[in-house]
Amino acid sequence: MNVADSELIVSLMSAGGYGITDDMNEADLILVNTCSIRENAEQRVRGRLKLFGSLKKKNPSLIVGVVGCMAQRLKEELILQEKSVNLVVGPDQYRQLPELVRTSFGGSGVVQTILSDSETYDDIEPVHYDGNGISAFISIMRGCINMCAYCIVPYVRGGERSRDPESIFGEITKLIENGYKEVTLIGQNVDSYNFHGMKFRELLEKVAERFPEIWIRFSTNHPKDLSDSLLETMAMYENICKSIHLPVQSGSTTVLERMKRGYTREWYLDRISAIKRIIPECTVSTDIMTGFCGETDYEHLDTLSLMEIAEYDFAFMFKYSQRPGTWAERNMKDDVPEKIKVKRLNEIIEMQGKISEKVKKRDVGQIFDILVEGPSKRSEKEFFGRTPGNKVVVFPNNIYKKGDFLKVLVTGCTSATLKGTIYEK
Ligand code: 5AD
Ligand code: SF4
Repeated sequence: MNVADSELIVSLMSAGGYGITDDMNEADLILVNTCSIRENAEQRVRGRLKLFGSLKKKNPSLIVGVVGCMAQRLKEELILQEKSVNLVVGPDQYRQLPELVRTSFGGSGVVQTILSDSETYDDIEPVHYDGNGISAFISIMRGCINMCAYCIVPYVRGGERSRDPESIFGEITKLIENGYKEVTLIGQNVDSYNFHGMKFRELLEKVAERFPEIWIRFSTNHPKDLSDSLLETMAMYENICKSIHLPVQSGSTTVLERMKRGYTREWYLDRISAIKRIIPECTVSTDIMTGFCGETDYEHLDTLSLMEIAEYDFAFMFKYSQRPGTWAERNMKDDVPEKIKVKRLNEIIEMQGKISEKVKKRDVGQIFDILVEGPSKRSEKEFFGRTPGNKVVVFPNNIYKKGDFLKVLVTGCTSATLKGTIYEK
């Protein structure tokens, strides 16, 4: 989400007459796009702001702006707390950025954080300034209305808005003209995409039909809304990648209830069975959060056991971090001691390590399509690409180039990647 937003910002700023530089010592303006989802994300931003403060000593006319979720959450407080900050702009006010930057020259601080219920930046063509030139994220909706008890997103990114499909198709057409081979449709909860009655399943089908030459991915699905009909659409189109990111958060029904997630352990496991039934080769990834309010040892064990059943290919694993203003912060106690959170997180990481190893071994001996992303970091003679299931395969190569599709035979694996050879029919 933040990558897509930074690309919007670069586009808006370029139209406003600003250029981009790789060297921060050269910059007249630094914009920091921020995340508020966990406290440590905000701490890292504060660290960066201190560094930018020191650049200001060398270049007193340097302007530092904070944009994104942390800007939205803290508003003028940021200007008061962080001496280096001149400008604070929330996620729905990026159109005003070029003008706000002009007004903040020499001024005492500009704050613009009104949330909108309609802004989708439909007409803005993002500038993919830092990508690989073949894969792009396309934002199809903004905001979220789910109000999970722990989550700051609905407060800092506002309510749900879906983007006009025509502008999505237009963006994909341009990307293809520029050599792109893969798009990922992104939103906080793509299953609730709804543009004047057009739902996500239909949007996905239209994208798959109109653009047969590229791979299509999407993220994030919500377990409460993931339907069999979406899975059937995925199964029907070869160019829809067989991979689903389905955040579980916890394997315990009682924790899920406290989190206000809207599903039970059994419901979630039924969705996993549906994926495996309808698309047997589909990979599944997840987000897991440990140490939520009141979590007992038994509830934690439920998470570990669910992980064993679901056999995730990847997992992003976090400790619960209480966020100001959320339902949980206002109504519940963050009562799992830090030491226990760390212990449980380590157990979860260890469990996922074992599962990843097991599922990766199953890939050895199999043939996969891949999209080549470029030479591997280790050696010029080796290239890497990604399978539809989003797994990285490294293989010796002097034939294919970035952006090519080909088949590889997986011959082995290391802890992070699969190893393979080009497979010729
Ligand atoms: N503390 C820790 N992790 C969180 N996430 C969301 N809110 C919090 C929080 N308060 C995690 C969830 C979500 C992912 C994007 O971030 O697992 O799926
Ligand atoms: Fe946050 Fe829940 Fe919305 Fe995801 S679905 S962004 S966790 S409120």
